[in-house]
Amino acid sequence: MSSKIYSAYDDPGTPDEISRRSFMANATLAVGGIIGLGLAIPIVGSLIPQDSGSKGTWAPLTADEFTSLQAATSKPVKLEFQLKSKDSYLPEQSTGEYVWGIKTDKQKFMSDRADLPKSGTLPYFAGAYTVVTMNFVILSPICPHLGCRPIWNDSATRFQCPCHGSQFDLDGEHVAGPAPRGMDPLPFKEQTGVANIMWIRYESGVPNRVIISYTS
Ligand code: FES
Repeated sequence: MSSKIYSAYDDPGTPDEISRRSFMANATLAVGGIIGLGLAIPIVGSLIPQDSGSKGTWAPLTADEFTSLQAATSKPVKLEFQLKSKDSYLPEQSTGEYVWGIKTDKQKFMSDRADLPKSGTLPYFAGAYTVVTMNFVILSPICPHLGCRPIWNDSATRFQCPCHGSQFDLDGEHVAGPAPRGMDPLPFKEQTGVANIMWIRYESGVPNRVIISYTS
């Protein structure tokens, strides 16, 4: 004779009990989903690169630097500033940098610099910037040959690169050595009485100007 053994697990319960269990299961899933979403949004957000890292930022010059720039007609002045940059996942960084500044005549400068577009502008992320602004030109200190830093020589009245001997005149025109182009002019603007410059890093070793970054 066979006999069936009943247990509590075989009993599905009354319709009320079944409905209560379904409600509790759905409610648990819903609460879990909300908590999961709350955790996922900041995590995913932290993984998305921030756009500010790819764009240039304006760096102000001090009043003293601007005064020295106004007098830089026969030799360049070295302008130091803090270059702020932001990598995608890191806090904002501040790096000490410098550029060369000269005061010149726009017509003379543009006729001297045959390697620059006749428009007198260069493209960048915000459109195009003017190479000569208010008769000032800011030159990148990076040699267009392979990235060393030319030094201004007062007696030779030239920038001279210590690495492979490239030379540039006061306007940054290439006059000797293996550099494929003249020194690179950078953006400059005056805003509410303060002079500002923007750092751009151009590719080395090529005749055309190709922007590779807005950080040093
Ligand atoms: S890096 Fe300047 S001449 Fe080579």
